[in-house]
Amino acid sequence: MILITTAGKVGAEAARLLARREVPVRVLVRDPVKAAALERDGVEVVRGDLAERADVDAAVKGVSAVVLVSPAVPAQEVAVVDSAVHAGVGHVVKITSKASADSPIPRRRHQAGIEDALTASGLGCTLLRNNAYMQNFLMLAPGIARTDGFGSSTGDGRVGMVDTRDVAAVAAEIAVAPAAHAGKTYWPTGPESLSYADAAAVLTRVLGRTITFHPLTFEEQKRAMVDVGVPEAVAAMNAQALSLFAEGDSDWVTDDVPAILGRRARSFERFATDHLAAFS
Ligand SMILES: NC(=O)c1ccc[n+]([C@@H]2O[C@H](COP(=O)([O-])OP(=O)(O)OC[C@H]3O[C@@H](n4cnc5c(N)ncnc54)[C@H](OP(=O)(O)O)[C@@H]3O)[C@@H](O)[C@H]2O)c1
Repeated sequence: MILITTAGKVGAEAARLLARREVPVRVLVRDPVKAAALERDGVEVVRGDLAERADVDAAVKGVSAVVLVSPAVPAQEVAVVDSAVHAGVGHVVKITSKASADSPIPRRRHQAGIEDALTASGLGCTLLRNNAYMQNFLMLAPGIARTDGFGSSTGDGRVGMVDTRDVAAVAAEIAVAPAAHAGKTYWPTGPESLSYADAAAVLTRVLGRTITFHPLTFEEQKRAMVDVGVPEAVAAMNAQALSLFAEGDSDWVTDDVPAILGRRARSFERFATDHLAAFS
């Protein structure tokens, strides 16, 4: 049995892929109603909250591997690691980002702390330090549909964005056969590094209408997120990350996805084509 700790973008897709392969898979969710489709696909859906140790302990029972993916609240993920140690879990695939203890972005510092706790736990583990998700563009999609444009403080910075469906596929693959991946850190990306102006050009081609990229300052970027309901602290953190993109912080591409999956990583064009309706 493989446990996936949440049913967000990565977790739900990983669960679906495993169920399709007839691998027993369990997913922890706060609201099972939202996961009804997963249950229909053959996923064991258990109600629980990562903030409740008893829920976590119940979820890890009888599990051989865990895909640890969540908003990465350190106390919650470290509790999953501790629970996994006590339950005798064999391997943890940790979904993380460009983590480092001295990053200016709190989320990356939190991820570094969780990675350290996992490494120190003695569990078999694999870190997936993913580049930025293509699916972040889905937050811009309603504005693109309305105005044929989008703004960002990424400047000319290029980003090796990865499709969360590929992150999920990599996590599922490793969870099924972890031996070759124990102790390894991968850096999943898509096949190319694109600036947001490049992304606008791809969207223009795929959507068949001109999509324009508007450069924003850090303050404008933060305000734009707050205006659509993102909490101030999260907006500041996201705007910080986008400003780092402008400095080339995420301009890297690896062949980890094709090496692990034996097929090409999805391109941004593929992502845009598959989400045409959201941008239209
Ligand atoms: N966005 C990026 O560009 C990027 C890049 C690299 C790495 N990452 C990493 O990816 C991870 C996020 O993965 P994702 O995009 O798949 O997540 P996501 O789509 O944002 O989904 C988060 C899920 O976590 C669930 N959840 C939140 N708190 C919970 C709790 N206390 N107990 C149980 N479930 C809980 C949510 O459920 P509800 O429906 O109940 O709220 C939701 O299903 C983070 O660790 C992030 O650092 C992100």
